[in-house]
Amino acid sequence: MAAQEKISAERLGGFISLEGADGCGKSTQLALLSKYLKDNNYAFSQGREPGGTKVGEEIRRLLLSRMDFKINDVAEVFLFQASRVHYVADLVIPALLNGEIFLSDRFYDSSIAYQGYAGGVNLDFIKHIISYATFGLSPHLTLLFDVDLETSLEAIANRQGGDRDRIEVKESDYHRRVIRGFRRISETYPDRVKVVPYVSNNPQAMHERAVSYVEDFLSTRNVNKKK
Ligand code: TYD
Repeated sequence: MAAQEKISAERLGGFISLEGADGCGKSTQLALLSKYLKDNNYAFSQGREPGGTKVGEEIRRLLLSRMDFKINDVAEVFLFQASRVHYVADLVIPALLNGEIFLSDRFYDSSIAYQGYAGGVNLDFIKHIISYATFGLSPHLTLLFDVDLETSLEAIANRQGGDRDRIEVKESDYHRRVIRGFRRISETYPDRVKVVPYVSNNPQAMHERAVSYVEDFLSTRNVNKKK
């Protein structure tokens, strides 16, 4: 598919992305949500960004684990989008065309919050190349797991064995801007982006809130159930 070609999968499947600053509990929520979809017999697939494909996972390693490289801010934007092109073309679009739900662990809002609002790269530039990387595709529903700075920094500090990636080691002000950036995105796109506030020690309460948004959304879509 040519990068300039816009796809129109708007009426097919259901594309749900999960977003939030580091330490927002997203991984736990993703596991609970995929169990919910499975238990309710929905046909769905899932993936993570950056990564999800062979090329994408290599780019992920370069972006997050190669702490010995200093990556230029603009190059960082391009690398996230390079991973995204493969992810969208190879995983997301085929699933949606198949009438499935696609659950995405992060999507382009992360580039806007991290590289844009936190990293200071021009937002119009980022949005422009996102539109190429995604073939113009947007999630139908985005769940934003909103977390406060203190909880986010604490979670980063407690990463197993001090195993922090290249984004996590950035200064606390960067993480503050990520959190604010995500909030700005939710205010800008209130129809698409639904906020699930962090609840300390209660992932189930967060899950129930997330499911209520997912159920509202799915009631408007013609998604497949397993036969
Ligand atoms: P994630 O997989 O959520 O981290 P973890 O493995 O700790 O759960 O996300 C990887 C990191 O990449 C995270 O810090 C956010 C960052 N990121 C960006 O900066 N820009 C992007 O476009 C994406 C998709 C992720």
